[in-house]
Amino acid sequence: MRIPRTGRSADELLAEIGELRKGDIDWRHGRAFSLVYNADDPELDELLHTVGAMFLHENALNPFRYRTLLKMETEVIDMAVGLFGAGCGSMSSGGTESIFLAVQTARDHARSRGIERPQLVCADTAHPAFAKACHYLDVEMVRLGHGPDGRAVPERYAAAIGDRTAVLVASSPCYPFGVIDPVHDIAGLAAEHDVLCHVDACLGGWILPWWERLGQKVPPWDFRVPGVTSLSADIHKYGYTFKGASVVLYRDRDLLQRQVFMYDSWPGGLYASSSSAGTRSGAPIAGAWSAINHLGEEGYLRLTSRVLDATTRLRSGVTAIDGLRITFDPDLSLFEFGSDTVDMNAVCDAMDNRGWNLDRQQGGLHLMVSPGHDRVVDEFLGDLAAAAARHGEARGGGHVYGGVVI
Ligand SMILES: Cc1ncc(COP(=O)(O)O)c(C=O)c1O
Repeated sequence: MRIPRTGRSADELLAEIGELRKGDIDWRHGRAFSLVYNADDPELDELLHTVGAMFLHENALNPFRYRTLLKMETEVIDMAVGLFGAGCGSMSSGGTESIFLAVQTARDHARSRGIERPQLVCADTAHPAFAKACHYLDVEMVRLGHGPDGRAVPERYAAAIGDRTAVLVASSPCYPFGVIDPVHDIAGLAAEHDVLCHVDACLGGWILPWWERLGQKVPPWDFRVPGVTSLSADIHKYGYTFKGASVVLYRDRDLLQRQVFMYDSWPGGLYASSSSAGTRSGAPIAGAWSAINHLGEEGYLRLTSRVLDATTRLRSGVTAIDGLRITFDPDLSLFEFGSDTVDMNAVCDAMDNRGWNLDRQQGGLHLMVSPGHDRVVDEFLGDLAAAAARHGEARGGGHVYGGVVI
């Protein structure tokens, strides 16, 4: 396809986009269970649209040119440092970039100790961003099976630690099953063997503090645990800002320093950056700052109690449907459910036909709960029960999480 010779009017393009979007997922009405974390808060939504437009063209590449962004970014990092008990950190564009930065930091930390080809040890439930980072950064990934409860198994980590180990990874929680790995034991092993420990709280970071304050049992998982050296937490997930905002945090500044890149041999002048991007849109920084300040602790607690209510009803409702079971007992607001008797692909097809968008995993279907889902729990469970009781042949959909190659 070639670019058009003559441009088209904004009205014409908006009309075309409007038509195209009719086929897109209706996440605003609770029909989607991943990709969008719907706060169902019109004031926040309007604020984010306004702030996003305001900072659309601003560039955070040189923070000293955009003082407002510098202030906002510094404050977002400070608030995250306080929330998780970290020492320092930086913002990034998302979970994958935060994980890349943590892996690069761990690699270079290991290399500084004379380890040529460092290893990263994780459970098979760790997000594929770790495999991707290891692939790009020439780190060897040692992938261990999960235990009978879906969690990483510390004994397997202990057996896997060797001369080339750079970092142990724990998920809080992992995406497929919503269970939190035994961070305390894994971080303890890391400390004992003098290696690093990264906690992937991309998904759980911005909801677990409130989940715990609402009385839910949450095992210690952040920098309160001795031995945890770095942590990733996405604000564009349960922090409820739009895409492009995460933090990667460290216990010590000398680890963060390894992430900073400085280059002074260029005619254009000194180039310095603390994440992998060069030009960075100002919008995600301003969005994250606005979402956090708009919601505050009270707002996060309010939204989390809606997530908790919807999760509790969904968990018991799914379990009550004949033939369905939740794969592993989740610690948070997401879980997989499957069946020994019902064809889950066919159930998913039937749910698709009713306008729901569930994710298909290897062992069943995946539910990720947002505040707005509390409005649709009954309708969803009614449709799911009907789909489980009466469905046709599966159309053969596969389990797909990420993007396709374009
Ligand atoms: C546990 C976990 N880690 C990392 C990521 C990657 O985050 P992103 O898609 O923002 O790169 C995700 C995404 O869902 C996740 O659930």
